[in-house]
Amino acid sequence: MGMKIRPSDQACGATVTGVDLSKELGESLVTDIRQAWVEHGVLAFPDQSLRDDDLERFTAYFGDFGEDPFVQAIPGREHIIAIQRKADETSSIFAEAWHTDWSFQSNPPAGTCLYGITIPETGGDTLFANQHLALEEMPSSLRARIEGRYAIHSAAGGYAPEGLYGKADEGSGRSMRVIASEAARDCFLHPLIKEHPENGRESLFGCLGYIIGIAGMEHDAASDLLLELHQWQTGEQFQYRHKWSSNMLVMWDNRCVLHRASGGYEGYDRLLHRTTIGSQS
Ligand code: SIN
Repeated sequence: MGMKIRPSDQACGATVTGVDLSKELGESLVTDIRQAWVEHGVLAFPDQSLRDDDLERFTAYFGDFGEDPFVQAIPGREHIIAIQRKADETSSIFAEAWHTDWSFQSNPPAGTCLYGITIPETGGDTLFANQHLALEEMPSSLRARIEGRYAIHSAAGGYAPEGLYGKADEGSGRSMRVIASEAARDCFLHPLIKEHPENGRESLFGCLGYIIGIAGMEHDAASDLLLELHQWQTGEQFQYRHKWSSNMLVMWDNRCVLHRASGGYEGYDRLLHRTTIGSQS
């Protein structure tokens, strides 16, 4: 049986069947998966029985591993982090705000792979927002205000000592291994509108959260614009709601989708293993 790609009926995302990711993949299959990844932004591969070695091998087909700066890798692995929450945990849901993974790096990662190990019976969906579409359908008056502008990205709001996962989070009982640090204060500029290096289509890149300002714009004006932009780019018409099952691998393209976690699974454990596909630009 060959690989089958079934697009979701939402703004992005597709389900891929007919491929066994626990086996080595040939070059033409990897090319087909890459093409589908770039086309749909999010690919879900259900019913995959993967060990950590398989997850790493699959990730490496698509580029070098990216660096995960503020989450400690799982024991014995350099490139895998655990997205984890215990049934009785009361800490805030990790990554519940819209974002593009590690957009605050000088060369942000191209993609992310997330493999579902323990999936709650209810809740815990991951939401994605198609940023090609959000830009294409953006009112020209809003686009004119961001055209040619550079956003200031920083991890401080999350990972600096006073950030969401910093001192205030100590003692919250979080089972994830988050490491807050002064390094989170570093800032990097990226254009708000970027050309996707693989399909040449323009996309919005990043959003308020990791974006903390706009170069050359006064703070309050930039905050107002970023808030307006955030409301637009995360609109329901651009979203895909991903429902997990265990043994499902999902890969997404950080260059053209935003994503966020969601809760609603109190009383259930949730565990996924995550790898990062490094920058390719
Ligand atoms: C993430 O941003 O990698 C977390 C997604 C999720 O937990 O659903």
